[in-house]
Amino acid sequence: MAENVPQENNTAEEGEAELRLTWQEQLGISWKTPIGLFGVGLTTVCFTLLILGLFGHMTGLIENHYAAIVTFLIFPAGMLFGLILIPVSFYVRRKRWFRNSLSKVFLVIDFSKKIHRRAVILFLVLSVINLTIFALVVYEAYHFTESDFFCGAVCHTVMDPEYTAYQRSPHAKVGCVQCHIGSGAEWYVKAKLSGLRQVKAVIDGSYSTPIPAPVEHLRPARDTCEACHWPEKFHGKRTKQFIAFSNDNQAEPSIQEVSLHIGGRNPFTDTFEGIHWHVSKDVKVEYQSLNSTRTAIGKIKVTKPNGITEEYEVPGGEGEAPAGDGVWRTMDCIDCHNRPTHVYENLAEKIDLGLFSKKINPELPGIREDSFTVLQTEYATREEAREQIVEDLVTLQAKRHGDDFAREHEAELIASGNYLLEAYLGNVWPAMKVTWGTYKGHNGHQDEADGYGCFRCHDDTHETKFGKTISQSCDLCHDEPQ
Ligand code: HEC
Ligand code: HEC
Ligand code: HEC
Ligand code: HEC
Ligand code: HEC
Repeated sequence: MAENVPQENNTAEEGEAELRLTWQEQLGISWKTPIGLFGVGLTTVCFTLLILGLFGHMTGLIENHYAAIVTFLIFPAGMLFGLILIPVSFYVRRKRWFRNSLSKVFLVIDFSKKIHRRAVILFLVLSVINLTIFALVVYEAYHFTESDFFCGAVCHTVMDPEYTAYQRSPHAKVGCVQCHIGSGAEWYVKAKLSGLRQVKAVIDGSYSTPIPAPVEHLRPARDTCEACHWPEKFHGKRTKQFIAFSNDNQAEPSIQEVSLHIGGRNPFTDTFEGIHWHVSKDVKVEYQSLNSTRTAIGKIKVTKPNGITEEYEVPGGEGEAPAGDGVWRTMDCIDCHNRPTHVYENLAEKIDLGLFSKKINPELPGIREDSFTVLQTEYATREEAREQIVEDLVTLQAKRHGDDFAREHEAELIASGNYLLEAYLGNVWPAMKVTWGTYKGHNGHQDEADGYGCFRCHDDTHETKFGKTISQSCDLCHDEPQ
């Protein structure tokens, strides 16, 4: 292409006339550099595929979510990159010309010339078409990046645990973004910025395993949960049943019923009562969390309607915050319902549910203990678990009762093993270091020993300077269990 470039050996005098190229001429040749040609090619290919993809998605012909990644993210990026290369090529070439003493020509549009009129109209029409398509793509891409599929499945290995637990929860139809982003431009931008960091972490493998809970900057529940739930609602009492077996008695469960005083604003008395008292409009409960999991609590401050505040602390200064970690937080839904949708199951509860529903056959002696052994085995991958679990259960039972027993009860053992496998696949991801009990809930006191739940504050040791404590008496929260 060097022939297009005026040569330096022209003298300035006579060169003047020859070196002048008109704008049309410059435009005509300036993109024909390797960069420019590549740009034009890339844009054309991506553009064509984009149009086809867009058509496919909008008419429903293409339903594959992974195709959407290509259509809405990769093609537009390719097209944009190609488009940018064209002016780059133009710029580079013109710079070379000027260095080679080509005189500058300025763009003059003369509407009295037909060719100029046509060019301008063509330019405008093409721009409108381009912008329309771009707007469509941006719109579709925006929706796509907000979809649960994008959040849950694009970063498959990383998000698989949360996505799986979410899909079986009461919030399976609530979008990830409704809790994690909420409405408003500010949080949208924040989320996209942290999204970019997360994409980088997935690409270079620097993400943490397991992903830490709580999410550091989860938006206050007032903007998310309260878009659907009304804190004042009066729930009254709700009875929950807890069913447990023991290794010695696999057949008869002990059934514990607790009637929880959820409360809310009582329409008869107009007082806000019960467990939901903490989120009533009338009060504000703040606490100082001393560690990142919020399991150690320093001071607690309650502001009541008439402006009276009460401050609780553990006497003896133990509650002093270590530097940087003592974060004050206003209590909201998530301080109790921290696992409203990423609900991982409890190992013992899951096995006992199996026995109760007879999916694990309670008539096989020792099956409860063997189920624990199998589900607590550390398989290297989910694949390995898939291949091993049923076999491992059969082997354990054969060891216990002999091979004949195992052969005789093969069908029941396989059915029980399949239940365990399903339980495993719903709760354990070795690659993400997620296993039984990795994520614990605050909504109760089953994991009290690890610092989770109500007894973080209701511990009879946090007290005001007048010695008032936060009660742990059983009937404060539920009817006295039998
Ligand atoms: C009903 C509200 C809600 C929805 C819907 C929701 N999340 Fe969450 N998510 C939370 C809360 C609350 C936490 C904090 C958990 C904690 O503090 O223990 C969380 C935590 C997480 C975490 C951190 C790891 C963990 O398990 O604690 C990830 C990752 C995550 N969510 C991803 C998702 C994805 C992906 C979706 C959609 C498929 C989604 N979330 C939908 C409320 C929600
Ligand atoms: C987009 C609406 C929406 C948002 C946002 C939402 N929820 Fe829900 N939530 C629901 C619906 C709908 C149900 C009822 C599901 C059912 O009955 O099957 C529900 C049920 C619940 C339940 C009862 C579960 C049970 O076991 O019966 C709790 C607790 C709850 N939500 C807490 C939360 C918390 C905490 C948040 C914020 C992190 C939140 N929700 C955000 C719609 C929402
Ligand atoms: C002090 C802890 C605590 C706080 C704070 C809290 N909840 Fe609850 N909530 C509970 C408990 C305990 C239950 C009983 C059911 C259970 O164990 O899941 C419950 C039950 C519920 C239910 C189910 C009610 C039913 O009739 O089955 C919903 C919905 C709910 N909460 C929503 C919320 C929302 C929304 C917020 C924030 C505005 C909130 N909760 C704040 C502890 C709390
Ligand atoms: C961050 C600290 C904190 C946590 C966590 C906490 N509470 Fe409380 N709770 C308080 C304080 C403070 C009071 C008020 C004590 C008082 O004024 O007597 C209170 C009061 C209550 C009351 C009495 C409300 C009334 O009508 O006066 C109930 C019921 C209750 N809590 C249940 C729960 C349950 C259930 C959980 C766990 C799911 C829980 N709390 C977790 C701090 C906490
Ligand atoms: C601060 C509130 C609170 C206090 C005080 C409290 N509980 Fe509970 N308890 C709960 C909540 C909330 C649940 C429901 C947990 C769930 O939904 O998973 C529960 C569940 C239970 C269960 C059934 C679950 C299990 O662990 O087997 C038993 C049993 C129980 N409580 C016993 C007691 C006893 C005994 C006391 C008195 C020493 C007591 N609780 C005091 C809030 C409380």
